[in-house]
Amino acid sequence: MLIVEGLSKKTIASTDESWLFKDVNLTVSAGEMVAIMGKSGVGKTTLLNSLCGLLPINDGKCTVDGVQLTNVGKRRVRQNLRESVSLVFQSPHLVPGFTLLQNVQLAWSISGKRSPFPPHEVLDRLDIEDERNQLPESVSGGQAQRTAIARSLVTPAKVILADEPTAALDGGNVGKALSELRKACAESGKCVVLVTHDFAIASHCERVLHLEGGKLRESSSSRN
Ligand SMILES: Nc1ncnc2c1ncn2[C@@H]1O[C@H](COP(=O)(O)OP(=O)(O)O)[C@@H](O)[C@H]1O
Ligand SMILES: [Mg+2]
Repeated sequence: MLIVEGLSKKTIASTDESWLFKDVNLTVSAGEMVAIMGKSGVGKTTLLNSLCGLLPINDGKCTVDGVQLTNVGKRRVRQNLRESVSLVFQSPHLVPGFTLLQNVQLAWSISGKRSPFPPHEVLDRLDIEDERNQLPESVSGGQAQRTAIARSLVTPAKVILADEPTAALDGGNVGKALSELRKACAESGKCVVLVTHDFAIASHCERVLHLEGGKLRESSSSRN
């Protein structure tokens, strides 16, 4: 379970009391998929990077099953990113010179090969079969993005933070990506926090939250 309590961060020029977000509270249970929406520039990416400890915060905290993600040293942040929280960045950030399969295997190996989702199977289900032995620089943006999603699924982390993970995908592949994320929630008790601009994608989530004016507010409920 992901628990965010009173998370606050000042804007970059933070000599005054100007907050990018203030007193953000959020609880996401095992098995739940939650969407965060909001206009470009409101701080969605910064919020995700702050939740997992990659960016410093000014107040509050975030934990996963009692493990502290915020206000910890760099070594602990690295450990948390191997064991407790997986990220899908807005751009894929694959390791150049490693094939798509090797990129996913790398995450799987680093996290101790404890995931019930083996790399080649996850890639198959995301329709990366013929391309799995190609390098990131020679595949499409959508194929690279699906590989980044696969990489987030093969670790034992209980929380996946995904920043517009389907923005580069066509309709069919959006469906596949969402169904793999949902399967990880249902079968492995993971939870997903997904930033999206797409109301159709948000409608697949149990809850939709809006980031606006530095506040995260629940805007609608229930998935069909
Ligand atoms: N490390 C940071 N600390 C504080 N503010 C930041 C930081 N990085 C980016 N910002 C500010 O956050 C604002 C929102 O950026 P971003 O999180 O990328 O928005 P979004 O993902 O919602 O489009 C930008 O105005 C940027 O200046
Ligand atoms: Mg963003």
